[in-house]
Amino acid sequence: SSLTQDDLKKIAAYKAVEFVRSGMVVGLGTGSTARHAVDRIAELLDQGELRDIIGIPTSSTTHEQALALGIPLSDLDSHPVVDLAIDGADEVDPFLNLVKGRGGSLLREKMVEGACKEFVVIVDESKLVDYLGGSLLAMPVEVIKFCWKFSAERLRALFEYAGCTTRLRLSGDGKEGEPYVTDNGNYVVDLYFKREIGDLSAASDAILRLAGVVEHGMFLKMASTVIVAGKHGVRVINR
Ligand code: A5P
Repeated sequence: SSLTQDDLKKIAAYKAVEFVRSGMVVGLGTGSTARHAVDRIAELLDQGELRDIIGIPTSSTTHEQALALGIPLSDLDSHPVVDLAIDGADEVDPFLNLVKGRGGSLLREKMVEGACKEFVVIVDESKLVDYLGGSLLAMPVEVIKFCWKFSAERLRALFEYAGCTTRLRLSGDGKEGEPYVTDNGNYVVDLYFKREIGDLSAASDAILRLAGVVEHGMFLKMASTVIVAGKHGVRVINR
């Protein structure tokens, strides 16, 4: 078929929005897939098919998008319980564990998606991996700016056994060569693995014990549903 990767992202996103009911508090994800879900929610609100939605954005980018579309917005301070969150992912393993944050919004995503009753993940089939880190792309860790090299070295040492290398994420758009700064004013150290990490929950604990670390991009046992759009159709996988 002639479906592009963006078509597949849109198909997954629209399918996820079918889970949204009027009156819900909805976590709004970040990235090129989640963007389609936010567009679709706004469209259904405009058409009167959905009413009384409150959106909780997971980044300043999504906040701006949803604001421009007229979706009523709030935050976790006012709405600590989120009914449903919809977001993309960078990797999905067979147990529905995720790597997220290649877009840099992992901290707010983890706060919002950790507070939701149901977390629907939307991906095209290119995101499926045998194990986290398996795409050989970045696994992001948000660190405070203070002595970030020290934090990066401690992260590398922690995963020496998995052939870990680290790189400070640099900003794109215009500020070439400058470090990328998150919505929360921190840096991102990207981890790359040559071998499997193994025990993910132990890895998560070990990363979070490092004092300069704010959060990491492994989302373990958080997804309730993963919607995978592929050339041959859409699959809805429940945990
Ligand atoms: C944002 O920080 C990320 O966690 C995104 O949700 C993730 O990178 C997926 O983005 P795409 O849908 O653009 O691939």
